[in-house]
Amino acid sequence: MSRRPMNPSRRLGDSGGALFSGSSHSKSKSSPIISIGLPLLVVGALILLVYSYSGGGGFVSVREAIGRVEGDFSCTMEVHRAIPILAKAYGDSMHKVLHVGPDTCSVVSRLLKEEENEAWGVEPYDTEDADRTCKALVKKGIVRVADIKFPLPYRPKSFSLVIVSDALDYLSPRYLNKTLPDLARVSVDGVVIFTGSPGHQKAKVAEVSKFGRVAKMRSSSWWVRYFVQTSLEENEAAIKKFEQAATKMSYISNCQIFHLMPFH
Ligand SMILES: *[C@@H]1O[C@H](CO)[C@@H](O)[C@H](O)[C@H]1NC(C)=O
Repeated sequence: MSRRPMNPSRRLGDSGGALFSGSSHSKSKSSPIISIGLPLLVVGALILLVYSYSGGGGFVSVREAIGRVEGDFSCTMEVHRAIPILAKAYGDSMHKVLHVGPDTCSVVSRLLKEEENEAWGVEPYDTEDADRTCKALVKKGIVRVADIKFPLPYRPKSFSLVIVSDALDYLSPRYLNKTLPDLARVSVDGVVIFTGSPGHQKAKVAEVSKFGRVAKMRSSSWWVRYFVQTSLEENEAAIKKFEQAATKMSYISNCQIFHLMPFH
């Protein structure tokens, strides 16, 4: 399940190779000091390069770096933007949230900043390149790394609200049939789904290497039909409150957002 989008060491290796081959021209004529000094210089440059690449001490995850570049298609980023609107629409339900999706650590950390909040996360992909904060969340069991094709490791109604982003797009209907009802199972007040819009499909190559499968951006009518087919009910009251708050705060989403009822 490792899907590291690119390998920074390879990039560094490439530029290192270029530096070395450039230096080998003058090698025959150069004095011993230069021939020792030059590789040292190259090594120094590489160390500097690695250092700046990692953001000067702080470890930047590759996914995070890529997320910044391609930020406009990440619906987990959209969850961050929507938190104030969700808080207006869902009120107290926002105090016990499960977020499911890539970079869940960022969402969980954000939610935990509010004193009265409890938050948990399910990270569908490996956290090998996660930062220290994220690793601590995983260690504490607040964030779990789990394949969402399988039942979530939580009892029914464990959370007041479940928010899922950038995760369902990668599931075929066969797995959606299992995963979506399972999200509804663990929630008391409903499920909020953030998915990509068909018009916003970008960076396909990076996507494939990241998730091992191309995201299938489904249209809003596809989703609504799907909900009806699988007897998942949209939460009209929540939709209304969310839209009102969004209008008031001039919030326009880059992703499709659906609000589902929990199972009773
Ligand atoms: C998913 O579930 C629906 C409703 O039960 C069913 O009609 C559909 O055939 C299922 N799809 C797959 C791929 O299993």
